[in-house]
Amino acid sequence: MSDNHLTWHKVADYIHEPDFAENQIALVSVNGKKICIARVGESLFAFAHKCPHAGGRLSEGYIDSHSCVVCPLHRFKFDIRTGRNVSGEGYHLKSWPVKTDEEGIYVAMESKRSSWFRL
Ligand code: FES
Repeated sequence: MSDNHLTWHKVADYIHEPDFAENQIALVSVNGKKICIARVGESLFAFAHKCPHAGGRLSEGYIDSHSCVVCPLHRFKFDIRTGRNVSGEGYHLKSWPVKTDEEGIYVAMESKRSSWFRL
């Protein structure tokens, strides 16, 4: 038996540190995993690097005017705030909370913690 807990991981010291491409998406490594960070205005969003449909690299897609990432392979769209597949194919994009403070930018990811001590 295990529980999921969120752990905050620092990904950058400030908003302009990640190497954002022209499409405003940066590829970063969090806890050994490659994920995308998108910048919309002064807000940041974190979501999976690989598209849940067939593994398209979302870092090579673009963010449309509704804050959706458009996959470069088959153009499915995902709301980067919720992971919802707004183009209707029924997939879900993994996304993670992002917070910023004066010390940096953080992404929260689940970590499994054993609950053996509850036996
Ligand atoms: S791989 Fe992304 S839409 Fe098909």
